[in-house]
Amino acid sequence: MSDVPVLELEGVHAFYGGAVILQDVSFAIAAGETVGLVGRNGAGKTTTLLSVYGVPRVTGEIRVDGTRVTGAPAHKPTSLGVSLVPQGKRIFGNLTVEENLLLGRASRRRGSWTPDAVYELFPNLGRGRDRSGTSLSGGEQQMLAIGRALMAEPALLMLDEPTEGLAPVIIDAIVVALEEIRSRGTALLLVEQHISMIQRVATRYLALRAGRLVGDGPVAQLTDRAVQEQIAL
Ligand SMILES: Nc1ncnc2c1ncn2[C@@H]1O[C@H](COP(=O)(O)OP(=O)(O)OP(=O)(O)O)[C@@H](O)[C@H]1O
Ligand SMILES: [Mg+2]
Repeated sequence: MSDVPVLELEGVHAFYGGAVILQDVSFAIAAGETVGLVGRNGAGKTTTLLSVYGVPRVTGEIRVDGTRVTGAPAHKPTSLGVSLVPQGKRIFGNLTVEENLLLGRASRRRGSWTPDAVYELFPNLGRGRDRSGTSLSGGEQQMLAIGRALMAEPALLMLDEPTEGLAPVIIDAIVVALEEIRSRGTALLLVEQHISMIQRVATRYLALRAGRLVGDGPVAQLTDRAVQEQIAL
């Protein structure tokens, strides 16, 4: 594996109109690393993920696999190896499961993710490959959103609250799938408000509070009282 981080943010500020949402955020994620990003409602977690695609307005430096993407077209991070599963399981409801997956094949990156490989990861999807997106359960939609992001062959998969509103048994299936994805060498950046999910999936945490990075360390520290006070979850 290369020493170049899959993602680096350096002195990133992000703005919605005149409002500063992120202030001086810096971190790097190494190849194959599993990182959880925590913070309260409105702390800037989603904005951090979107900043990679230049949304909203961003200053500072963002690099994917060593290449600067600040100011680049939004498809550039994907072609360099970062995929996003957005908050709220966004899939195309009027397309079938398989059509959704094929739409994810947006980059020319080489790798082993095919619809059949996704169906091995999520057998439910395989049994319903001709069903329309709208006919899927919430959990199946989230699995499809993850599968679609994998089809771009990411070196880093970013997931924005992928277990929001899902039943424990479905969350367990998603945790197992994330472990399998990680075992193939894919780095994970998982946004979660609940630290239990981060403890299950990640080895390192990042914490945001009011748009600033206030914590970066091993996941075991998330149970320290001092760390919890700092994060103010
Ligand atoms: N489209 C927008 N226009 C203006 N302000 C926005 C917009 N989207 C988000 N914000 C503001 O940016 C801040 C950070 O929002 P963000 O969505 O990144 O938080 P979050 O940590 O992901 O929260 P949540 O846990 O609710 O998903 C909030 O104060 C929010 O009100
Ligand atoms: Mg969010």
